[in-house]
Amino acid sequence: MSEPSDALSALLHESRRFSPPPELAQRANAQPGIYAEANADPVAWWEEQARRLSWATPWDRALEWDLPFAKWFVGGKLNVAVNCVDRHVDAGLGERVAFHWEGEPGDTRTITYADLQKMVCRAANALTELGVTAGETVAIYMPMIPETVVAMLACARLGAPHTVVFGGFSADALRGRILDCDARTVITADGGYRRGAPSALKPAVDVAVADCPGVRRVLVVRRTGQDVGWNDARDVWWHDVVDRQADTHTAEMFDSEHPLYIMYTSGTTAKPKGILHTSGGYLTHVSATHRLIFDVKPESDVFWTAADIGWVTGHSYIVYGPLANATTSVMYEGTPDTPGRDRWWQIVERYKVNILYTAPTTIRTFMKWGPELIEGHDLSSLRLLGSVGEPINPEAWIWYRHHIGGDRCPIVDTWWQTETGGILITPLPGITATKPGAAMVPFPGISAAVVGEDGTPVKPGNGGYLVITQPWPGMLRGIWGDPERYRETYWSRFEGCYFAGDGAKLDEDGDIWLLGRVDDVMNVSGHRISTTEVEHALVGHPSVAEAAVVGANDATTGQAIVAFVTVKGGVADDPASGERLVVDLRDHVAREIGPIAKPRQILLTPELPKTRSGKIMRRLLRDVADNRELGDVTTLLDPTVVNAIKDRMTTGG
Ligand code: WTA
Repeated sequence: MSEPSDALSALLHESRRFSPPPELAQRANAQPGIYAEANADPVAWWEEQARRLSWATPWDRALEWDLPFAKWFVGGKLNVAVNCVDRHVDAGLGERVAFHWEGEPGDTRTITYADLQKMVCRAANALTELGVTAGETVAIYMPMIPETVVAMLACARLGAPHTVVFGGFSADALRGRILDCDARTVITADGGYRRGAPSALKPAVDVAVADCPGVRRVLVVRRTGQDVGWNDARDVWWHDVVDRQADTHTAEMFDSEHPLYIMYTSGTTAKPKGILHTSGGYLTHVSATHRLIFDVKPESDVFWTAADIGWVTGHSYIVYGPLANATTSVMYEGTPDTPGRDRWWQIVERYKVNILYTAPTTIRTFMKWGPELIEGHDLSSLRLLGSVGEPINPEAWIWYRHHIGGDRCPIVDTWWQTETGGILITPLPGITATKPGAAMVPFPGISAAVVGEDGTPVKPGNGGYLVITQPWPGMLRGIWGDPERYRETYWSRFEGCYFAGDGAKLDEDGDIWLLGRVDDVMNVSGHRISTTEVEHALVGHPSVAEAAVVGANDATTGQAIVAFVTVKGGVADDPASGERLVVDLRDHVAREIGPIAKPRQILLTPELPKTRSGKIMRRLLRDVADNRELGDVTTLLDPTVVNAIKDRMTTGG
């Protein structure tokens, strides 16, 4: 494991503090007694949160903990989709807007809870007609349109676990996921709009499922109207099969531990891990965190998680958390710069958004674009801001607070992971005096610690590794099909604790600062990408002999991918052919994994620095990529290799 980056340690000199606005504090959903109450009996406190959901059968035991396997609300039965939709309609909230949706070209849809109920029932009936049954996985590869939410909820309603694959992933990545979880049905669209143009999705599905014999059906939403290839035996249009269905559906109730979804995420090996989430505990966790951290008042607030549904943030805080709380959300299809760089601020103004949740990388992009873009817009509706996905540097935090939040909105910097299901470390907006750059404290009911190499808690003022010391309701239930890898990855490094893979520091006040990954996982624009996965893609290219990939510091994206590559037969002397190869390699990675995994820089080098035992010295390569002074090179086989690489880097090699 490597040390957290130096650049981030700088933020620990930050000493500003921001108290909650008194008015917000007074009316906040979370009041100061909450920590004492939760600490007194965390499991009982979680039970209280679970009781806010609607259960067909109550649970017998709140928690069964057989380390590292947890079961929550055992014996309880519920239906997640019913909790997110039907019960609100039954409570007389059918006319409340669930989503103000905006397409990138400017088309809009307003979807009430009553509308959503009908849409989900029709889709559930259609999926049943297509043969989907409880327990059978469904892959969803969609743009950011309402049908994506409907598809997820229809699966949840039927007890069919979904796996949503981000639309920016390649056909190969999609195929790998479909095969791993044995999905029999794929739901997709012809395409979606991005950066002002239709961007196709169906062709990637066609390529992916050509090698997935288990896939029976591909259900296709018409979004862009672009031409698509068609296989009559397999493909069906959403409007042909869904629209003609009855808009009522009797939902079956499922065990609290029934699988809800699988979300693939990058680990330290080339193969992404299928993170499994189940029903009752997950829904309890995401709805409680959503209500208490974002202080949502569902009768009046408009909430906007500006993230893609293809990531866990979208699952927990666009779909399941907000809908369980009967919230009105904004959902936007496209990129923030289309047609102009003020698109988000138009949206905030138009829908009078009260709560905005986004990633530091986006905030830094807005900083680069300049505050003038914001000034023409009325953002006075905003009352709370959230950050997620990567450490937020104090400069971006202050900028967010000042330019977007008008110096009046508290910022909640929320730390969590695909694996944790929901937020674990965060301020509470009416209670916590925040520090720019710190995620601060564990959420009520969560036990976390910062520990040293030996697993003992560090003293205030020291750095170490973040661990979670007690099970929590939203925690992953395992890695799909690989219980041993689950134990090994998360529960073996520190005895009895969940090891998150993040470095952290406990400051003198006992508050937690997250310092980034300490393993071979990069965080690029808030997206997790494994160094090994990119290396694997690179060595799959016929010209590549060996590849080493590292995450370098990047002012906008947090980290950027830098690849060092040795070429079969040596580097060509002719620079033009070298450049062509670099372009080709970047495209190759985009094809293999997706455009998000394209290296910022690829360096062709005659050799990679290795230890005497033949291990590639990534730490050195990171230093080279960051242009830092070189660390200890005495264990290197051939120390001159690094200098040769460094020379190529500075000459732009
Ligand atoms: C990082 C995204 C610092 C962290 C929800 C974690 C953060 C990884 C924060 C999970 C934060 C997320 N401060 N770092 N507020 N939030 N991270 O699975 O390194 O895509 O391990 O989940 O993002 O990324 P994932």
